[in-house]
Amino acid sequence: MIRFLTAGESHGQGLVVIVEGMPAGLSISEDYIGAQMARRQRGHGRGGRMKIEQDWAHVVSGIRHGRTLGSPIALTIENKDWVNWTQVMSVAPVEEEVPRVTRIRPGHADLPGTMKYGFDDVRDVLERSSARETAARVAAGAVTRRLLEEFGIEIYSHSLAIGGVWASYDGEIDWDRVEASTVRCADPEAEPKMVAAIDSAKEAGDTVGGVVEVVAQGVPIGLGSHVQWDRKLDGRIAQALMSINACKAVSIGDGWESINQRGSQVHDVIEPVTDPSHPWQRKTNRSGGTEGGMTSGTPLVARFAIKPISTLVKPLPSVDLDTGELVQAHYERSDVCQVPPAGVIGEAMVALVLADAFMEKFGGDNVEETRRNYQGYLKTVGPRAMTGQRDAD
Ligand SMILES: Cc1cc2nc3c(=O)[nH]c(=O)nc-3n(C[C@H](O)[C@H](O)[C@H](O)COP(=O)(O)O)c2cc1C
Repeated sequence: MIRFLTAGESHGQGLVVIVEGMPAGLSISEDYIGAQMARRQRGHGRGGRMKIEQDWAHVVSGIRHGRTLGSPIALTIENKDWVNWTQVMSVAPVEEEVPRVTRIRPGHADLPGTMKYGFDDVRDVLERSSARETAARVAAGAVTRRLLEEFGIEIYSHSLAIGGVWASYDGEIDWDRVEASTVRCADPEAEPKMVAAIDSAKEAGDTVGGVVEVVAQGVPIGLGSHVQWDRKLDGRIAQALMSINACKAVSIGDGWESINQRGSQVHDVIEPVTDPSHPWQRKTNRSGGTEGGMTSGTPLVARFAIKPISTLVKPLPSVDLDTGELVQAHYERSDVCQVPPAGVIGEAMVALVLADAFMEKFGGDNVEETRRNYQGYLKTVGPRAMTGQRDAD
């Protein structure tokens, strides 16, 4: 229902994204999208590029007088760094010789991409495979986040681990604290240790990865479906998060931890319904908000692992594309840790998947039509005696 496409090279003129399938009549502004984009740019461990860029998504189409039109929403994001790359990234052929990148970087798209597309310059791959593209995803995610907000769905994220340091927390997370933290950490004790892990990796010319947790609250029961593999919501979330650059694992709820436990310790007991306005309460949320490929009505909790950045100040040994001989991998200005921004990107991907599933379930060309459908559905969710369905039998 909601789909998006991005375009753009890291050092090209900019990024473009089109979001299609949004209902008409939703209020949204460039400032709202800009606030999400600014969140992606923060974080301890980011490199020099983020000091150059101050991302802003210009709305080209699909919004008029602060409201969506139901038509495709097109956004452009300028690359400020482009002015330094006009020759290297020129659309038209250039007179002067542009140095080729031939020292392949392990851990990147460099080698498979160069072979697959038949290039003689690794730059033809690395420009697009760069995580710069995720700025466009965050812009698209912001558009869908606005829709979800309208229905009381809020999405958050925090860094669960960085460089081997794990955060621990009991119960409610203080999301304001996470936003104020340079490493997006909810645990005040782990936070300085995470910062130190990043600093020590930087000093050693190395990089660190970690684990991010994304939480979506207020998600209604029944998004996604059990009937076909590609309609299962947990599968769609996993694909969306796995597609984030450097993501190497995704889990939902207790995920990997649940395999060491017995069934009685893993499943979420359903409690008797006493309050018809809050039916189907669970004692726990070990499942992370999905059962059988559908949302269960508890918060959606997904974790994903981000590998340490592949480009190292002290480059790894590699080979030259031309000669096949031993060289040091190419180094281009790079981050030391991308876990904090990955959280914001993860939120955007979850927002895109949830909004898609939400529109699939409730439809509507105008947000008020969507609201009517949504509210009508909520009246049917609950024990049949309480929703009046049993009386109708
Ligand atoms: C927000 C973010 C920023 C990143 N910045 C860099 C970077 O500065 N240098 C780098 O080598 N990799 C960076 N990466 C990771 C690469 O984009 C990623 O490792 C590469 O695309 C290959 O990953 P894959 O094997 O998971 O596809 C970043 C990733 C994210 C999510």
